[in-house]
Amino acid sequence: MLSMQDIIRDGHPTLRKIAAQVNMPPSAEEKQILKEMMDYVKNSQDPELAAKYGLRAGIGLAAPQINISKRMIAVHVTYNGEQFSYAFFNPKIISHSVQRSYLAAGEGCLSVDESIPGFVPRYSKVTVKGIGLDGNEIKLKLKGLPAIVFQHEIDHLNGIMFYDHINKQNPFEPIENAIAVER
Ligand code: NI
Repeated sequence: MLSMQDIIRDGHPTLRKIAAQVNMPPSAEEKQILKEMMDYVKNSQDPELAAKYGLRAGIGLAAPQINISKRMIAVHVTYNGEQFSYAFFNPKIISHSVQRSYLAAGEGCLSVDESIPGFVPRYSKVTVKGIGLDGNEIKLKLKGLPAIVFQHEIDHLNGIMFYDHINKQNPFEPIENAIAVER
């Protein structure tokens, strides 16, 4: 079972690498790792398990965050009463809106211990394609919080941290024509 000890923190070089594509079909080990990533995210949202194992709550995790530089992400998030629970190999944003959005409260990351305030501009809608744990291709059209989570996690596969997108001079400068998303 993954715990906070397995999660590398900001400053670790793996977080800045471009992660490698996973060859299809994935190996049993790669599937196991992705399953464990999903388990972490789910368990971290269970107050009892989180307290018992000292898990910081998260809604997404990318393999580079456990020091595995491969294109794998797990997302488990509820938004507007709908649950989005996806484990992806080789996720890719294949199209996005012109419209931007941002999390009104800013973003956080399991690999960043301190909170870094500021608006993180994202695309309001994205279409994501990837391969699920069962080996089937999945295509998702996302908006709101799930769209932001996928962009945050896919950024990790490209060595990008959320705060890279924050305006350094003025972290809360309004983002033009952007929708504020509440969690
Ligand atoms: Ni993150």
